Amino acid sequence: MARPDKMQPETLDWRTIAIHTGNTHMGGAIRTPITMANSYELPEDPTTVNWSGTDTLLYTRNTGVNQRDLQQRLAALEGAEDAVVLASGVAALHAVFFSVLSAGDHVICTDIGYVALRRLLADLLPKKYGIQATFVDTSDPGVVRAAIRPETKLIHTEVIANPTNRVADINALAGIAHEAGTLLSVDSTFTPPGWYWPLRDGADLVVHSLTKYVNGHGDAMGGAVLGHRELIDPIRADVQVDVGGVISPFNAWLITRGLVTMPLRLRQHAESAQAIAEFLASRPEVARVDYPGLPHHPQYDVAQRQFPHGAGGMIAFTLKGDATLQNRFVSELRVVTSAVSLGHDESLIVQVSKDEPHTENFAPIYQRNGLLRFSVGLEHTQDLIDDLAAALDAVAPGIAAD
Ligand SMILES: Cc1ncc(COP(=O)(O)O)c(C=O)c1O
Repeated sequence: MARPDKMQPETLDWRTIAIHTGNTHMGGAIRTPITMANSYELPEDPTTVNWSGTDTLLYTRNTGVNQRDLQQRLAALEGAEDAVVLASGVAALHAVFFSVLSAGDHVICTDIGYVALRRLLADLLPKKYGIQATFVDTSDPGVVRAAIRPETKLIHTEVIANPTNRVADINALAGIAHEAGTLLSVDSTFTPPGWYWPLRDGADLVVHSLTKYVNGHGDAMGGAVLGHRELIDPIRADVQVDVGGVISPFNAWLITRGLVTMPLRLRQHAESAQAIAEFLASRPEVARVDYPGLPHHPQYDVAQRQFPHGAGGMIAFTLKGDATLQNRFVSELRVVTSAVSLGHDESLIVQVSKDEPHTENFAPIYQRNGLLRFSVGLEHTQDLIDDLAAALDAVAPGIAAD
């Protein structure tokens, strides 16, 4: 039994969209059921079927009930014409580059970003497919403009850069991209809808690792690309169907379930992150804190304009001490877990070593000490501050002796 289409997403608030849009009420169930079938019954005359089509339920690599639910919900939330969901955030990044770029094309990419992004554009795609990439500081629109070449097809940035929290001015970058006749794609994983809507500022394609805030519970992987239908259609046809990085129905269902509570979760993440960033900045053991909601953040004004509902849930900081001391600090934490990933219900911290590749663009103190990337979770704010305070107290004598 299909649900009557009585709700018009464009008239609804994003918090209502997160709960209702996409839900099929299939068979009368109030939630879209998990459909683990990898194939669907064919019509009486199968010669009419387009085996590469993505509109009819045929085969789960083409489309599926749970993918569709998640895609509709994400597109409505982001204010996009269309969305395609894939197996991971990296699959979504690759999908953009594979779809937009051809041999000989040039891409301008942020010089601080998720490690796999750098490997894709610095090593793999140039070596295998002859793509040319230039890495620049995308928080400086003038530097981006100067890097444009006749063969530039794409500018790609993270809205808030992983791991240093540098902020890009998306409106300024969109102006530069469109003046030059190129596309702007942005990875908005650190700023899901609710914190920021990059398409409203002129981005052409938005990428999310759904593994992070959108799912929010640390138990599934997924990725999405969103934008105009003419850009999403080829990604779905070429990258999803023919390259095959499809999301599993179960993961799509889990992520849809997580997405329902994202509006409430984001509020708590941002409220705690602001309080914790201020706390860390007040401690003498802390050498530097980067959180876009702190007035000393280098792109504070851009952040205030772009993120009026909260400056995210990620904090970068470093202690007055070397890697061994930072490891000791992390091992003293009792509530916060040392693990990669971010945007989960539980707080996660990871030490990014100064010896990681591509740290040359980090602030000098991060190049000397490495940095701690802290994903502020949904625990009670004071419990998190107490945990950090106790760990700082424990390592403080080592810092005083430095
Ligand atoms: C900004 C950003 N983009 C993309 C990814 C990749 O996402 P996934 O791990 O889902 O492939 C990550 C992962 O940490 C990320 O932080």
